[in-house]
Amino acid sequence: MAPPKELELSRRDVMIAAAATAAAASAPVAAGAQTATAASRAPTMAAVAMTVNGQAKRLDVDTRTTLLDVLRERLEMTGTKKGCDHGQCGACTVIVDGRRMNSCLSLAVMHEGSEITTIEGFGSPDNLHPMQAAFVKHDGYQCGYCTPGQICSAVSVLEEIKAGIPSHVSADLTAAFEPTADEIRERMSGNICRCGAYSNIVDAMTEVAGRRA
Ligand code: FES
Ligand code: FES
Repeated sequence: MAPPKELELSRRDVMIAAAATAAAASAPVAAGAQTATAASRAPTMAAVAMTVNGQAKRLDVDTRTTLLDVLRERLEMTGTKKGCDHGQCGACTVIVDGRRMNSCLSLAVMHEGSEITTIEGFGSPDNLHPMQAAFVKHDGYQCGYCTPGQICSAVSVLEEIKAGIPSHVSADLTAAFEPTADEIRERMSGNICRCGAYSNIVDAMTEVAGRRA
């Protein structure tokens, strides 16, 4: 049975009135939410002082800024590369207080007082660091994009082996660790090379470690 005309009209009126009420009620809430969102998006700045390649640096940073972005965008040290920005490729590896680190996973404000070495701190074209020279000699790169991170890791890996830090493939944890190809490959596994220069990188590192490639 069709509803009476009066009832149909009154139902439509109720719907319109309800929609208008909801819109009116939500308008101030939405405006307030927008204000709150804008406020929460405002950057929180913090001062940070660090030493980069032997030079004291002091700067104000957005607390959300990664060490990688500070190095590249603020300090214009673009040798350190951004590959994945998610800790998966190793292109952004730098040495912080003697340990290698993915700079894309670390906030700059965490490094107050840190000593940071990037690829720019290793050598110059006229005076290469031994690891840089070995990479050149053994053809350890093709496009070179991963190379700064590879070299920072390579230098640190040899230090880790010397310091007696074990890896997943270290069979005897009580013996001195040797920079074997297996140890080098395992310890360098966080540094991805799209060009596939891996075997030449192992040769370069083996030579710097004083072993036969
Ligand atoms: S850019 Fe940091 S690990 Fe890939
Ligand atoms: S040399 Fe090209 S990505 Fe490694």
